[in-house]
Amino acid sequence: MKPVKIGILGLGTVGGGTVNVLKRNAKEIARRAGREIIVTRALARNLDRERICDTDGIALTADPFDIINDPEIEVVLELIGGETLAKDLVLQAIEKGKHVVTANKALIALHGNEIFRKASEKGVMVLFEAAVAGGIPIIKAIREGLSGNQIEWLAGIINGTGNFILTEMRDKGRDFGDVLAEAQALGYAEANPIFDVEGIDAAHKLTILASIAFGIPLQFDKIFTEGISKITREDVEYAEQLGYRIKHLGIARKTEKGIELRVHPTLIPERRLIANVDGVMNAVLVKGDAVGPTLYYGAGAGAEATASAVVADVVDVVRALTSDPENRVPHLAFQPEAIVDIPV
Ligand code: NDP
Ligand code: HSE
Repeated sequence: MKPVKIGILGLGTVGGGTVNVLKRNAKEIARRAGREIIVTRALARNLDRERICDTDGIALTADPFDIINDPEIEVVLELIGGETLAKDLVLQAIEKGKHVVTANKALIALHGNEIFRKASEKGVMVLFEAAVAGGIPIIKAIREGLSGNQIEWLAGIINGTGNFILTEMRDKGRDFGDVLAEAQALGYAEANPIFDVEGIDAAHKLTILASIAFGIPLQFDKIFTEGISKITREDVEYAEQLGYRIKHLGIARKTEKGIELRVHPTLIPERRLIANVDGVMNAVLVKGDAVGPTLYYGAGAGAEATASAVVADVVDVVRALTSDPENRVPHLAFQPEAIVDIPV
């Protein structure tokens, strides 16, 4: 069979990591996908910038339409970030009948309803595993592994930058700003790090998780959102002295009135597993009515950890290319669940 050609919009941390993983593990990936996968084109702003990946065999361009209009490209990876250009390009790629894989939680949380509607009309797939909790396959776990359950609640550390900051403040007494700068240098933080420290990124992710877990529409504006920017080293130290850890959690819980959604800092007894999830690691607890509590742990950000999830979605798309479109998993399956407004 002919190789599947893919185009990447954005060759930064995640785009570069994705090229590295696709090249290094090409044989295993082809065996699992059933076809060889090659990146033929990639978009970047600055074509002279040094890349974290080997760009041999990839035509670099600053014009996204070199990718969108290439009839040979079947799958487009949106790894630019942001909402405006990303949304425009994703909708145009879908219009051209291309399948899309994205790591962009803001895009899915804020515009997913529109994007999935259009994708369904055009009969293409839009997958977004990397948008939540980096390398942890949490969307597949809830959607596939827990598909026989009613989800009662989920709670997790879903921002790697924030958890890295809190851990370094606790373990090394470092300053908030100093650790944030390191998280940016390591490629963990969002282009606008306010999203990480004010809880917006976690709220984007919780919007997506809640939609998958409870079948509610994507409703970012319904989440109570508080970040970690007001937490001081003293807060972290006092919590420690009292036997607690400060962790920033995203929580979604089914109540009698509907689904409660919130992200905020919490105090967790230090003996709990989730209190010991440190650095850039993420962890998500999901309670199903049949299985009981389950726990998913792994790197929440970083080039290759995130690429792991992007590539898994690409493999899913390639497998599905040979399957009956009628049998594909729906983008989101809504049920008429209400969302509870949290009194602040
Ligand atoms: P980067 O800033 O590292 O990379 C963005 C890439 O997009 C760069 O290659 C940049 O080009 C290119 N780009 C941006 N704007 C334009 C434009 N207008 N025209 C052409 N190219 C453009 O971001 P990340 O890789 O960190 O993040 C990408 C996405 O993945 C985001 O949605 C983010 O939220 C998500 N994500 C990130 C994770 C991480 O650990 N970093 C983890 C999970 C998800 P150039 O290189 O020339 O500047
Ligand atoms: N900025 C995000 C984080 C990237 O730190 O978790 C992964 O989504």
